[in-house]
Amino acid sequence: MLLQGELVRLRALEPEDAEKLYEWVHDPEVGRWMTNGHPRSLAQLRKRAEERPVNTYDSVVLGIEARGQRLIGVVDLRDAEPEIGEAELDIYIGDPEFRNGGGYGTEALRLMCRYGFNNMRLHQITLWVVAENEVARHVYRKVGFVEEGRHREAFVAQDGTRHDMILMSMLKGELKW
Ligand SMILES: CC(C)(COP(=O)(O)OP(=O)(O)OC[C@H]1O[C@@H](n2cnc3c(N)ncnc32)[C@H](O)[C@@H]1OP(=O)(O)O)[C@@H](O)C(=O)NCCC(=O)NCCS
Repeated sequence: MLLQGELVRLRALEPEDAEKLYEWVHDPEVGRWMTNGHPRSLAQLRKRAEERPVNTYDSVVLGIEARGQRLIGVVDLRDAEPEIGEAELDIYIGDPEFRNGGGYGTEALRLMCRYGFNNMRLHQITLWVVAENEVARHVYRKVGFVEEGRHREAFVAQDGTRHDMILMSMLKGELKW
């Protein structure tokens, strides 16, 4: 199956996932190098989960499941532009047991990119990553993303410090499995 790998499976998010998403969006380890916005209440996240629109070409948000249907993170492809065939990717592994070393994020990225190229017929997938986020940059390079440029001091961390962001992209045919 297309969204099933050896370690993870990607599936649509359910309203019951709201509690875990609440935990993760407020976890400083997850959010260290991510643009998070202002704190949100559990009630707001529950409401959003209940009202989540169906996945469409414009925005595909999928939960990452591992080991017996345990939700461990989220990956999405958003803001797809049909004229160009380009969309932007975001990913995080929220569950600390599955982060940094098990290969879960790597496989989820590959499955999502394959879905983007094969099913959504994308030509290019882009993403932004903070320059200091070495783990993410390593994983992105490993699956085939290349660096395109640097947006200086464009990211403000939780402690108020500014950091450069790197634009990366992958073209159809460049995905490394
Ligand atoms: C980035 C992220 C999605 C990667 O997923 P993951 O499941 O943790 O990563 P994996 O286990 O698949 O791979 C980790 C890789 O980083 C490598 N790594 C670990 N520490 C590293 C470091 N300090 N510098 C460079 N590479 C490092 C590991 O060796 C491994 O590579 P390998 O398989 O080639 O040996 C995940 O760590 C995460 O969600 N981080 C927090 C949120 C985030 O930063 N999201 C991305 C925002 S752009």
